[in-house]
Amino acid sequence: MFPIFTICFLIAISSISFANISNFTELYKDIEELINLTETFHGLENNNEYFVNFDSAKKPIDYGTFDFIIVGAGTAGGVVANRLTETNFKVLLIEAGPRDPDTVSVTALGAYYYNTPLDWGYKTTVQDNFCLATIDKRCIYPRGKMWGGTSSTTGGVYSRGSRWDYDDWANLVGSNDWSYEKVLPYFKKAEKAFFKTGLDASYHGFEGPQGVDLLEDTPGLTKTLLKAFEEKGVPELDYNGKSPYGVGRTQIYLNRNIRTGTAYAYITPASNRTNLVISDNSLVTKVNIVENIAVGVEFIKNGTAYFARASKEVILSAGSINTPQILMLSGIGPSQELKKHGIEVIKNLPVGQNLQDHVGCTAIYFRTNHTYYNLTLKQALELWYENKRPLKAGWGSQILSFINLKNDKFKPPDVEFIGIGPNGASSEIAKLNRYNQNYTAAYKILNQYTDLAFTVILLHPESKGELTLQSNDPRDFPLINLNVFAVEKDLEILYQSIKWLLDIQNTNAFNHFERLHLLMPGCDENFKTDSREWWYCVLRHIASPDYHPISTAIMGRDPSNSVTDPELKVHGIRGLRIVDASVVPITISGHLVAPVVMVADKAADFIKAEYNGLQKN
Ligand SMILES: Cc1cc2nc3c(=O)[nH]c(=O)nc-3n(C[C@H](O)[C@H](O)[C@H](O)COP(=O)(O)OP(=O)(O)OC[C@H]3O[C@@H](n4cnc5c(N)ncnc54)[C@H](O)[C@@H]3O)c2cc1C
Ligand SMILES: *[C@@H]1O[C@H](CO)[C@@H](O)[C@H](O)[C@H]1NC(C)=O
Ligand SMILES: *[C@@H]1O[C@H](CO)[C@@H](O)[C@H](O)[C@H]1NC(C)=O
Ligand SMILES: *[C@@H]1O[C@H](CO)[C@@H](O)[C@H](O)[C@H]1NC(C)=O
Ligand SMILES: *[C@@H]1O[C@H](CO)[C@@H](O)[C@H](O)[C@H]1NC(C)=O
Ligand SMILES: *[C@@H]1O[C@H](CO)[C@@H](O)[C@H](O)[C@H]1NC(C)=O
Ligand SMILES: *[C@@H]1O[C@H](CO)[C@@H](O)[C@H](O)[C@H]1NC(C)=O
Ligand SMILES: *[C@@H]1O[C@H](CO)[C@@H](O)[C@H](O)[C@H]1NC(C)=O
Ligand SMILES: *[C@@H]1O[C@H](CO)[C@@H](O)[C@H](O)[C@H]1NC(C)=O
Repeated sequence: MFPIFTICFLIAISSISFANISNFTELYKDIEELINLTETFHGLENNNEYFVNFDSAKKPIDYGTFDFIIVGAGTAGGVVANRLTETNFKVLLIEAGPRDPDTVSVTALGAYYYNTPLDWGYKTTVQDNFCLATIDKRCIYPRGKMWGGTSSTTGGVYSRGSRWDYDDWANLVGSNDWSYEKVLPYFKKAEKAFFKTGLDASYHGFEGPQGVDLLEDTPGLTKTLLKAFEEKGVPELDYNGKSPYGVGRTQIYLNRNIRTGTAYAYITPASNRTNLVISDNSLVTKVNIVENIAVGVEFIKNGTAYFARASKEVILSAGSINTPQILMLSGIGPSQELKKHGIEVIKNLPVGQNLQDHVGCTAIYFRTNHTYYNLTLKQALELWYENKRPLKAGWGSQILSFINLKNDKFKPPDVEFIGIGPNGASSEIAKLNRYNQNYTAAYKILNQYTDLAFTVILLHPESKGELTLQSNDPRDFPLINLNVFAVEKDLEILYQSIKWLLDIQNTNAFNHFERLHLLMPGCDENFKTDSREWWYCVLRHIASPDYHPISTAIMGRDPSNSVTDPELKVHGIRGLRIVDASVVPITISGHLVAPVVMVADKAADFIKAEYNGLQKN
């Protein structure tokens, strides 16, 4: 049985039993239980679960001494743990969630985890200019909480960003380590490309642990989408190849039908190594710092406090929301923010500042003249076992396209389009996003078996947000203020991109597809449909964060505006490195798993070079 059903789920999770994934009956039952759970569970609101029966008078128990302690067995943490235990380092990997359940293998189920204890349950703070269609002006902000972290719940899109992103990154931080030339070998090292169609082979890897594949075409849809873009002058290509400027079938993290997140590719294969200890269901509350040296961490597991010592380094890989929270709880962060919560300042650094994310909007819908995948769950799962859609990819993703509105093809693209097939365009979106009654009603017209959608993503917003503390108590969630659309230019670029995309209805390819107009309460009454003002209003209501947060422990040289140096060491503190999306200093023109895995693999090489005297690449 899927254990998070029981009332005391923390205990149940740690005794998770794994179905035999080759057994259809078992996997099907687990999926049903997962879906059933989302009907009744509405997301965590704090970290209290770890503190049941916690006795603050008891002294923390000694968990031992390790060369390295890695906090977070997520996307980055999984890679670092694997790479460091390839040598004889002794590593402790501490993860707040449990082992990833078997259902994680089925990529299309990713969105179900948002409403389970396998997600942190975060929401943004109240946004005055954004998330206006939700019941309380707060967008959900999913983060995976299990082995593999968020890579266990994503839609599986494999997209690295453009070469110019990395060259800009290298220039910004003044280190050639991050140039495209230097990061490309790491992208290849991680990848095992299974597909041949349209593959720009010299840019791909074929021996790595993370499978990447294309899905079979959805008949009457994938090719139509590609043709429509080509009619608009956008060539078909491999967007992870030489240039992203074009349109391509979505590349997905898959080994045959199985999700290849970092739990599958890095953690599970290393989990039996004798020099790796994994403590899961364990919440790290603090890094212990003595005379500006990180000496270990404190964590809580099932109501008991522990401490563990690191003889070489503590590595924070808790992600862009939790890493800055842990840093601040440990005395590293903006002095003012720390003092406000009564935390002793060990190092004044701009932790939590510079929070950036992509902004996406799924507001363009078409009704096709086909019926796709009108299947029961059982039928869909049967197809999954035959290595077929629709359960192999999240959101029915069909194609990705990158454009630059100024047509400057030697700079990072400014917009990404995702063509989303049926099963992605559905009224479930309203529920998932917590839309208010009016917007929930508007989405009811969608038919998930016939309709397609486009998501438009602003890749380089100028608006920046911040991550701050609610209190000095690790039980409380941090505050995620994205501040989206604070800069009006961001709305304008999205509007221009939407105008560009809407023209697709005039292509021959889209002849038999009819644009769907969903009611947009609050906008329709005030503005003419499709006018600039109407679109600004629509974007403020239904645009959403893309869940790609970065820069909350930003890399750089100057401690007045950065948190780590280009080798990911926290300024002014010895033995403390940050290895996850929080160090990424600029918005990437793509999705984030691949860049984060690259950062983690590179970090492992920095570390090996430093402690083993090995040459770094
Ligand atoms: C819904 C969604 C869809 C996405 N889709 C895609 C996609 O299709 N393609 C793509 O490339 N990217 C996608 N992304 C983005 C991508 O998944 C993330 O940017 C990336 O995985 C972040 O990696 P990370 O290592 O920084 O953090 P995470 O993978 O989140 O890892 C952090 C880990 O640390 C653990 N942790 C946190 N705090 C503590 C603590 N105090 N103690 C112990 N452990 C702790 C967490 O439980 C987690 O396991 C998506 C993101 C979301 C949310
Ligand atoms: C958690 O702690 C309780 C006592 O507080 C104990 O009864 C239980 O067995 C523990 N669970 C696990 C999984 O260790
Ligand atoms: C898993 O199930 C398959 C088919 O049901 C069976 O052939 C296989 O032996 C099982 N494996 C284990 C480890 O139980
Ligand atoms: C699959 O699992 C079910 C339930 O655990 C079991 O009854 C059945 O025999 C298994 N099927 C096979 C083919 O192993
Ligand atoms: C899920 O819920 C449905 C409807 O209530 C029920 O019929 C089914 O048995 C449940 N499945 C599991 C595995 O609990
Ligand atoms: C790890 O060891 C367990 C128990 O011996 C075994 O069942 C499992 O298959 C091993 N896992 C790997 C990845 O080797
Ligand atoms: C949909 O339109 C296309 C393009 O004209 C046509 O080839 C196809 O037969 C139509 N499909 C259906 C189910 O009507
Ligand atoms: C999907 O199938 C169901 C049951 O067969 C049917 O009632 C429904 O009309 C179908 N939907 C579409 C869009 O064809
Ligand atoms: C929904 O629409 C009605 C009628 O336009 C309006 O009075 C009401 O305030 C709206 N509710 C919300 C939550 O926006």
